[in-house]
Amino acid sequence: MTNTVYVLNGPNLNLLGMREPEIYGADTLDDIAAMLEDRARELGLEIEMRQSNHEGHLVDWLHEAQAEGAKAVLLNAAAYTHTSIALLDAIKAIRTPVIEVHLSDPSTREPFRHHSYVGLAAAKTVQGLGARSYLVALEAVAEL
Ligand code: DQA
Repeated sequence: MTNTVYVLNGPNLNLLGMREPEIYGADTLDDIAAMLEDRARELGLEIEMRQSNHEGHLVDWLHEAQAEGAKAVLLNAAAYTHTSIALLDAIKAIRTPVIEVHLSDPSTREPFRHHSYVGLAAAKTVQGLGARSYLVALEAVAEL
């Protein structure tokens, strides 16, 4: 196993910073990547940061994380969280632990966000802390 943590981000997260900042905050995905890199260095971990608007890319990267011996995956599947049986199956298909991450707290938002397919198989969920959700999730990886 390596010390690499895959951080996989789903649809519309490329627009963070300008996308509904009252919900998702002012940090861009690059800002979050920089924060994660700094903390990862302190924890002796490496970050592999990815974003895609395409569901299949996220499935492929979950498989890749296992094939490459990643220590864990932080997955913000964004809207696919609430729709994707393919992502649920991919998480179940790999042994690499997956931590579900959300900037907002979907459980306090519209009812269609209350169900998470990702959460059915994730080792843990960190949500509602803004960009800090990613940092808390990374710290949880260091304890795995
Ligand atoms: C999100 C929450 C999802 O409900 C939403 O579709 C997103 C972002 C979050 O990080 O708060 O795109 O995953």
